[in-house]
Amino acid sequence: MKVAVMGYGTVGSGVVEVIESHSEIIARRTGGEPLEVKYILDLRDFPDDPHQEAFTKDFNDILNDPEVKIVAETMGGVNPAFDFTMKLLGAGKSVVTSNKELVAQKGLELLEQAEKSNANYLFEASVGGGIPIIRPMTQCLAANNIEGIAGILNGTTNFILTKMIEENMSFEAALKLAQDNGYAEKDPTADIEGHDACRKVCILASLAFGKHVYPNQVEAEGIKNITLEDVAYIQSANGVIKLLGQIKYINENKIAAFVSPAVVYNGSQLASVRDVFNAILVRGDAVGDVCFYGRGAGKLPTASAVVADIVDCAKHIFRKKIFGWGAGDEDYVVDYKAELEMPFYVRAKMSEAQAKATFGVVKYLSRPGQPSDEVAFITDYMTENELKAKLEGAEVLNVIKVTNY
Ligand code: HSE
Repeated sequence: MKVAVMGYGTVGSGVVEVIESHSEIIARRTGGEPLEVKYILDLRDFPDDPHQEAFTKDFNDILNDPEVKIVAETMGGVNPAFDFTMKLLGAGKSVVTSNKELVAQKGLELLEQAEKSNANYLFEASVGGGIPIIRPMTQCLAANNIEGIAGILNGTTNFILTKMIEENMSFEAALKLAQDNGYAEKDPTADIEGHDACRKVCILASLAFGKHVYPNQVEAEGIKNITLEDVAYIQSANGVIKLLGQIKYINENKIAAFVSPAVVYNGSQLASVRDVFNAILVRGDAVGDVCFYGRGAGKLPTASAVVADIVDCAKHIFRKKIFGWGAGDEDYVVDYKAELEMPFYVRAKMSEAQAKATFGVVKYLSRPGQPSDEVAFITDYMTENELKAKLEGAEVLNVIKVTNY
């Protein structure tokens, strides 16, 4: 079966590599037919690459070739990936992607087009890199009402936090290493500021509850304000700081969804997720907690998931899989700062007496070299708006949410 790959960067080249290096096992799993990469679309030249016959700069070569029935879109970004994918689906070709930005922004339209054309649009690689999560959520957990999801969804930031905590490496050096390893986005601010994790939260929330959630509905806070002082205080409470995406079902018409640094206590399965690894913890009403763990970024792990989707499309070439979600509402994602109660880590310039007067009984934390005018503590449950009101006028150094996952 002939396939095309659009975008020959880290993931796209990994897809071609996996198709070739695993041709026998793939052929067995598609029912005997091997996959053959007929086109690789990229505007760049790759003079030393052995696939010269496959390279094209013209998208229409792929669109107009009836032999190509499955296309892997590994270009990233919304444009021109959206236009290309709409045209391919419109022509009845199935498309698989690792492009979380596109799925989070335009997934509803693309899934509707796939439905109309009796084609498949699959995106296992868009969340958690090589971790199986989209298919388990839509198939294995199909009998559950999902109560909540919490995930370490960005490999780059988890890698950076791990290097900072365990090796005292500077933020910049750790980021450079993540970029060299092909983990980071083209513009790494998407990783650092939580936008990449936000897109993945949107996809998970849309799948879990059946209504499209858009990135502008999900507040994202990144890891730039995390300091080694915060790390040390949290360590004294037997916890670690992770960049978490959290989703909570409230009722049929309301969910909470946000991305932020969070204190995770060491008893949690999420606490031991280090390096570039991701983990997604799904809380179902029948199954309880299930946790999916693996490499969340990188060439071959992500390619593993893209190629699995190609195999799935090849097996369903004349059948549309029932898969997707419907439209959402503007006010479907609530203002979690007003509605969700949780404990908070607070570091501020104040005395324990002042902290007690404002918050009552709290859990105080300590760190080596703690200045006498600095206090750090974990509050009782409250909303973020209530916390802000209590801290008004205080010299606050940092506030971090504490998760109950
Ligand atoms: N930049 C992303 C990450 C790649 O670091 O997780 C995988 O989506």
